[in-house]
Amino acid sequence: MSSVLTMNECLGRDLALDLVRVTEAAALAAGRWMGRGQKDAGDEAAVHAMRAMLGTVDIDGVVVIGEGEKDEAPMLFNGEAVGTGQGPAVDIAVDPVEGTSLLAHGRPDSIAVIGVAPRGTMWSPGPGFYMNKLVVGREAREAISSASLALPVAELLAAIGKAKHKAVADLTVFVLDKPRHSRLIADVRAAGARVLTRTDGDVAGALMAATPGSGVDVLMGIGGTPEGVISACAVRALGGAMLGQLAPQKPEEREALLAAGIDIDRVLTECDLVASDDVFFSATGITDGLLMQGVRYTDGGSTTHSIVMRGKSRTRRTIQAEHCIDKVRTIGSCSEA
Ligand code: FBP
Repeated sequence: MSSVLTMNECLGRDLALDLVRVTEAAALAAGRWMGRGQKDAGDEAAVHAMRAMLGTVDIDGVVVIGEGEKDEAPMLFNGEAVGTGQGPAVDIAVDPVEGTSLLAHGRPDSIAVIGVAPRGTMWSPGPGFYMNKLVVGREAREAISSASLALPVAELLAAIGKAKHKAVADLTVFVLDKPRHSRLIADVRAAGARVLTRTDGDVAGALMAATPGSGVDVLMGIGGTPEGVISACAVRALGGAMLGQLAPQKPEEREALLAAGIDIDRVLTECDLVASDDVFFSATGITDGLLMQGVRYTDGGSTTHSIVMRGKSRTRRTIQAEHCIDKVRTIGSCSEA
């Protein structure tokens, strides 16, 4: 029988190693599709592998952040029950391939991710697809307040630089390379900071910004709302700070949010997005990236590189795994899919 935990109780066990197996499976399946130009096929392979591996984990899980509604991609859908049903009641946020286009084009920093927190603690984005985000690591926590998203970029970066004892010229800001960010990128450059752009993948960007010593100091800009909740799992586990504000990109999205009674002016923190420090986050590299190497296939099998974190203890593990050929075959190849 599963035990439903209150928000004040600890999940009581370290799910980290179970969860790393889940993101490894998704990455192993997706990696076969690197550079093949078929983003849905890579996503679908990862969804199946992630779902199968989640089915072996002793949790009573419900997917509350499933990726795919935005573009009708194959998905682990919202409300789907996952896990064996034996174990703690948890909310699950997944993205089997975060950065499907990165994967399809063989570009860096496509990752498989999962976040887990006690049942009822993850914020639901409702009909909101887009969110304006700001992420920093724990050294810059005190530089961030709910007013930060509205500050001029130069003022914000000066405060972050001061908190990190770095000149603004030495700060690196991760921004998604989208037309909507042309002004933001110009402002960051005008302030004197450096910009790291990626066409996709702001969960990886948030992970970099919140990880001390990653080479990225800040994430700024508008990305997906589900990705915002997943990022918040990593930010909480790392002790960083995050702000998020819904940023509808089309009138229909704005109208749907207002019709649902959602306050689009509210600035959410990482604690609003995930209301428990008893949070787990796991990511496995699919393509090579700044923090993690991608999947490598060899004669004998394959290798994966993952980062897995537990918020309660603030433990951050990096796990390099060698997988034997039989397991890799079981998870699948692109020719079999
Ligand atoms: P996918 O994993 O669905 O490919 O999303 C990638 C991504 O770049 C996210 O990292 C980001 O939050 C979102 O899409 C941005 O959406 P859009 O590309 O519509 O601006």
